[in-house]
Amino acid sequence: MKIYEVSSYEELSEKAADIIAKVVKEKPDCVLGLATGSSPVGTYKELIKRYEAGELDFSNVRSVNLDEYVGLDGSNEQSYRYFMDKNLFDHINIQKFNTNVPSGISDNMHGECERYENMINGIGGVDIQLLGIGHDGHIGFNEPADNFPVKTHVVELEETTIRANSRFFDNIEDVPKRAITMGIGTIMKSKKILLIASGADKRQIVEKAFYGPVTPEVPASILQFHPDFTLVYCFN
Ligand code: F6R
Repeated sequence: MKIYEVSSYEELSEKAADIIAKVVKEKPDCVLGLATGSSPVGTYKELIKRYEAGELDFSNVRSVNLDEYVGLDGSNEQSYRYFMDKNLFDHINIQKFNTNVPSGISDNMHGECERYENMINGIGGVDIQLLGIGHDGHIGFNEPADNFPVKTHVVELEETTIRANSRFFDNIEDVPKRAITMGIGTIMKSKKILLIASGADKRQIVEKAFYGPVTPEVPASILQFHPDFTLVYCFN
């Protein structure tokens, strides 16, 4: 486990972008595992800046996102597909057909989970997975549980997650109650994993997850066992 403590969100975003950019340069057709939420917005801005400066080429890069709300299609502004288009894909030369976000509107969600899992394996697995962390230790939408979910699956969201995510919606009632997410096993198969956490409110969970015991009650704690895991955090 490599740990970098930085002093600002800007520095965190630059550090994360450095790590991702290195993978893109070394392997131009790499598979990037991507996340949504507040944490990666600065990282995506940095990647866009480097693309605009001619330092990065995404034309052969593939991407897979961690998760999506059940019931929202990609044209819905709250969907994670929409978030990715607006915060990254529309600003770089990645080919849209090379970007993958699980479908939240499949009429066979079980089949969609299986398709997504097989698709990730079929394109050779994830070279680097970017993650944020929830206040309860969730990664993707893998909430605290009695065991670590292995594969892509549908989850009922915890009240705390619904509350935290309601900041992106007009009303808390509009926050979907279910999501489709890569499993912990799916995430752990990534060749490299990079988790970014910023803000004083993340201190407690970062300490619990990475300096405490590994337990499915704190899903992110399993990352301690990953052979190539990097944590970048700032608590300002
Ligand atoms: C997002 C995701 C979530 C977030 C987590 C932290 O695709 O899977 O696990 O990474 O909820 O969210 P922020 O960054 O908004 O604090």
